[in-house]
Amino acid sequence: MSDKPAVLVARKVFPEVVQRLAQHFEVEDNPTDHIHSPDELRARLQGKAGAFVTLSERIDAALLDANPQLRAVCNMAVGYNNIDVGACSARGVLVSNTPDVLTETTADFGFALMMATARRITESERFLREGRWDRWAYDMFAGSDLHGATLGILGMGRIGQGIARRGALGFGMQVIYHNRSRLPADQEAPIGARYVDKETLLREADHLVVVVPYSPQTHHAIGAAELARMKPSATLTNIARGGVVDDAALAQALAQGRIAAAGLDVFEGEPQVHPQLLAQRNVVLTPHIASASVATRRAMADLAADNLIAALTGGVPPTPVNAQVLGR
Ligand code: DGY
Repeated sequence: MSDKPAVLVARKVFPEVVQRLAQHFEVEDNPTDHIHSPDELRARLQGKAGAFVTLSERIDAALLDANPQLRAVCNMAVGYNNIDVGACSARGVLVSNTPDVLTETTADFGFALMMATARRITESERFLREGRWDRWAYDMFAGSDLHGATLGILGMGRIGQGIARRGALGFGMQVIYHNRSRLPADQEAPIGARYVDKETLLREADHLVVVVPYSPQTHHAIGAAELARMKPSATLTNIARGGVVDDAALAQALAQGRIAAAGLDVFEGEPQVHPQLLAQRNVVLTPHIASASVATRRAMADLAADNLIAALTGGVPPTPVNAQVLGR
């Protein structure tokens, strides 16, 4: 019997990362990438000291109570709304996430999605592939400009700031933002970002990008009332989390032309997508891939592994969410 601690790698990840973990742990991995049901996950974690998880695994009090030996839960994602951090902290279980390594990749994608939405790229591609293109027309897929427009950002964390920089410095956009707290003046100044209340953000943005973490406080932060305050010509881009936007209200707003278009990388109840969004022509839909460059996904996996190794071998985890449990 090995004296290495046992860990579960809940989803398929880079083989090199599994091999690295195997130098420290008895690893149960998941090469078929089956998504464990809550019962399966609870059973697979029996006897495990650590878990390498992704946003498809829900870590809650019941699972922790069934696995009191668990010491660390390391998420391969910056968002961690799949984990009940309070329940983990109460039981001394370390939680970690993967901030920073995905900031620029995710900001690139947020910008690309906003651009595809404003300039109707996927809608026009579908038209061409369907063999419907038979002439040039003055108004064919005419969308809205990004350059010179007002970029609104809800949630000015690292990724929001990355999108703001791209808009201001690359495209000459005026940046307005709303956030729990205002940025220090020396961070606002280089991009000319103006802090506004949510009402003003909704009213003035030509292109609104949502980048707030999901929490009970941000549930349906953009719903029917907020959509009604936006310009009819505005676009909405959501790269935050499903549930921050009320997808049913958005589908209705798009169908009624209350806003011009939306770009969505995340959905309520994903991988299910609201059928009325699927039916809508003026929405760009992508399957939660904002951080998916090969290099960044590898960096995220490496960082989750670094956290797991440190947490279970007496080291200092680089990016803990609940650092207060360390040293307990
Ligand atoms: C994150 O890191 O939170 C992403 O949504 C997962 O890729």
